Amino acid sequence: MTPSQRFLAACRRQPVDRTPVWFMRQAGRIFPEFRALRRQYGFVELMQHPDLCAEITVMPVERLGVDAAILFADIMTPLAPLGVDYRIEPGVGPVVGQPLAAAADLGRLRRFDPREELAPVLETVRLVRRALGDRVPLIGFAGAPFTLACYLIEGRPSREFHRARALMYGDPAFWHGLMERLAETVLDYLRAQVEAGVQAVQLFDSWVGGLGPAAYRRFVLPYSSRVLEGLADLGVPRIHFGTGNAALLPLMAEAGAEVVGVDWRVDLDRAWEAIGPDKAIQGNLDPAALLAPFDQVEEQARDVLRRAAGRPGHIFNLGHGVLPETPVDHLRRLVELVHRETERPAEA
Ligand code: CP3
Repeated sequence: MTPSQRFLAACRRQPVDRTPVWFMRQAGRIFPEFRALRRQYGFVELMQHPDLCAEITVMPVERLGVDAAILFADIMTPLAPLGVDYRIEPGVGPVVGQPLAAAADLGRLRRFDPREELAPVLETVRLVRRALGDRVPLIGFAGAPFTLACYLIEGRPSREFHRARALMYGDPAFWHGLMERLAETVLDYLRAQVEAGVQAVQLFDSWVGGLGPAAYRRFVLPYSSRVLEGLADLGVPRIHFGTGNAALLPLMAEAGAEVVGVDWRVDLDRAWEAIGPDKAIQGNLDPAALLAPFDQVEEQARDVLRRAAGRPGHIFNLGHGVLPETPVDHLRRLVELVHRETERPAEA
């Protein structure tokens, strides 16, 4: 089995010759070449250079031996053509110039065609596909409407996103109007990524763990579901990921993806019970474990594998993004370990 077949088969819960593995935030971040590039270009400026973005996307495939590449872009990328002025502040994250506060602000959001206004990202997809050939599949991605709404309302990273949650309850017309526009934008953008060549998509709802199940069902699920269901006809596997969201897993499973990504705060076998046997699962080694000596990485990784053993449909990943200070060699050895430990003859 090629890594491409391995990853795509696992997403569909078909038998594989070894468990596929990739890491969220594997592109950029940990590589010295990326840091050197970042001294030359601002993050948003870097997005205008498909050749460089393609190179960063392919780097972990060559250096780490992972079974999938993830497009180098950011969840904020589609917000610029929407009319949102933002920058990525090193060590902080996305900072929005004029946060949204009321329904009147929705008028500031423009309609746009991603094929035109996000052409450099789509060009990156085409360059990566050409560079990778059939070696490994390329995963496209977008931020989910809720996580994007959090940044648009708070204006910057926040621990609890109180303002966003307060507006969600206090101004439902604004909230639903915003979520509708974001769902539409994200769906168009992901469809354009698939047209350009991505072979799977991941919807990142990183901050969704701030909500309880009832609020999630009412204020968030319909919009994530609209995005995921809106991709159904394209036939590419869909991965739906959140953090701090153990109580939301059954609802996130309902939203429509084939694969649910889980963070490290829940045991993988329990998480699989919560999302149900008809879904594949992605996760969930604690990214901080990779900062410990490798024998500890090994022990933690084996525990994840043990909890996934005996049924098809596990994609090994971390429970959240790779931490910037992670030793590259630990990641490379972890890929080898997962492959070695799970090797089995493929069924005909
Ligand atoms: O996986 C990959 O490596 C592909 C590229 C990718 C980036 N951001 C590049 C990036 C992906 C998949 C993302 C997703 C993303 N961005 C998420 C969802 C995943 C998650 O971690 O929860 C979120 C919440 C963001 C928002 C964001 N962008 C933050 C919080 C930050 C700052 C912290 C950091 O260093 O990641 C960014 C900036 C960003 N996005 C960088 C990179 C490589 C660092 C930019 C820099 O060099 O200053």
